[in-house]
Amino acid sequence: MTIEEFEKFDMNYTVCECFDVTLGTLLDAIKAGHKTVDALMDETDAGTACELCQSKAIDEDGDRELHLDEIVAYAKAKEI
Ligand code: FES
Repeated sequence: MTIEEFEKFDMNYTVCECFDVTLGTLLDAIKAGHKTVDALMDETDAGTACELCQSKAIDEDGDRELHLDEIVAYAKAKEI
């Protein structure tokens, strides 16, 4: 996913449906120092139920549009 594609997502977009965790919540957690997928899962519970929102590799059928690993990669690219 390109940075431009990523930035089309609203901060209220629900990344993790199992726990109702938004993109804004996940970026706030990254800003607070939880900068890996595992750290985000520990902090927010996102990705810890069906696991589909963790990565495209796990979400083979594309159930989720945005995944935790893509958020971590975006944050790294933007030095968040
Ligand atoms: S959508 Fe995130 S764990 Fe199910």
